[in-house]
Amino acid sequence: MKTLGQFIIEKQADFPFAKGELSRLLRDIGIAAKMVNREVNKAGLADLLGGYGETNVQGEVQQKLDVYADVQFISALQRGGECCYVASEEHELGIDLSHDFVSKNAKYIVCIDPLDGSSNIDVNVSVGTIFSIYRRGGTEGITMANDLLQQGKQQVAAGYIIYGSSTMLVYTTGNGVNGFTLDPSIGEFCLSHPNMKIPDNGQIYSINEGNYIKFPQAIKNYIKYCQIEDAETKRPYISRYIGSMVADIHRNLIRGGVFIYPETLSFPKGKLRLMYECNPMAFIIEQAGGKATTGSERILDIQPTELHQRIPIVIGSRKMVEKVEYFYRMECEPSLNV
Ligand code: AHG
Ligand code: MN
Ligand code: MN
Repeated sequence: MKTLGQFIIEKQADFPFAKGELSRLLRDIGIAAKMVNREVNKAGLADLLGGYGETNVQGEVQQKLDVYADVQFISALQRGGECCYVASEEHELGIDLSHDFVSKNAKYIVCIDPLDGSSNIDVNVSVGTIFSIYRRGGTEGITMANDLLQQGKQQVAAGYIIYGSSTMLVYTTGNGVNGFTLDPSIGEFCLSHPNMKIPDNGQIYSINEGNYIKFPQAIKNYIKYCQIEDAETKRPYISRYIGSMVADIHRNLIRGGVFIYPETLSFPKGKLRLMYECNPMAFIIEQAGGKATTGSERILDIQPTELHQRIPIVIGSRKMVEKVEYFYRMECEPSLNV
C-alpha cells in the first residue's frame, strides 16, 4: 500500500525542476487533516460540539469545530513555511504569513474552507475540508489583484478531506485525481482510489429542495424533469442531499450525479463561495472528467472580485451538468423548447 507521503515524492520525480515546496505544502495539509480527523472523531467526548459563540465575517454562527479546524490548518501552514498567505472562510482578510521569517520566500497561497458542512457536526454526519492552492503572483507584498483574486484555472492544486464513515483525502495537481483513505491503525493516508473518474452520466441529483419556491424557473423545470418517469434515460432520478458540499460531491464523483446550489431569492448570487468551495471542487471534478458551471459559465474562468464572493454552482457528471445548462438556456430562449 502506498502512503500519501510516498505518492507525493514519487509524483515530484515527474517534475525534475520542482524543488519540493508544493509536495511539502501538501504534506502539511495532510498532517493538519489528521489532527482535525482525531477531534472530529471524538467531538462528543471532547466538548467540541455546538456553537463557539461568535459569528464569522459572513454572519454565520461559528461552531467549535469550525474554529478548531481553522486554527489547525493555519498553524500547520505557518509551521511548514511554504505558504505566504491563507484565505479562510473564517477570516475577513485572511492571514498574511509573508512577514514570518520561515515563510517570507514562500511561493504559495492557500484558500481554505477549514470545516465544510458545519450544520452536520452535532448529528454525526459527514463533514469536510476544502483547499485550493495558487502560486504567489510576485515576490513583493501580497496584493488582492496580483496574488489573491486569481481565476480558478490558475490553481496549481486543490483537494478535499471527507471525515465520513472513513476519512479520505482527495486531491489533484492538474494530472488527474487521486484518493487516499486514512488507515487509523498506522495513522497514514493510503492510496485507495487511484486516477478517479466521474461517470459521464448519472442518476443522482443533489439540491436543497426545501428552497424550491425560491429557485429560478430553469431549476424548477429541471427538478420536474428529474422526477418524470422515462425508461430510456432511467428516470425518475434519485434525490440525495447531505448538506455538506464535500460529501455530496464525493458521492456523486464515485456514483455519478449532479450537485446544484443555484441563485435563490435568499441568495441571489448563490450561496457557496467561489474561492474556497466552488473553485477547488470544480478543479477536482474537471480533472476527473466532469464539468462545473454557474449554469452558463465555466466556474474556473470566473474572475473573482472579492475573497468571500458567492456564486451559483452546477457540478458533476458532464451530461447532467449540460442538461441543467440546457434548461437555463431554454428559459432565456423558449423557442429552443421544441
Ligand atoms: P459551511 O459549513 O462551510 O458554511 O458550508 C455549508 C455549505 C455546503 O457545504 C452545503 O452544501 C451548503 O452549505 C448547505 O446549505 P443549505 O443548508 O442552504 O442547503
Ligand atoms: Mn463550506
Ligand atoms: Mn466551513
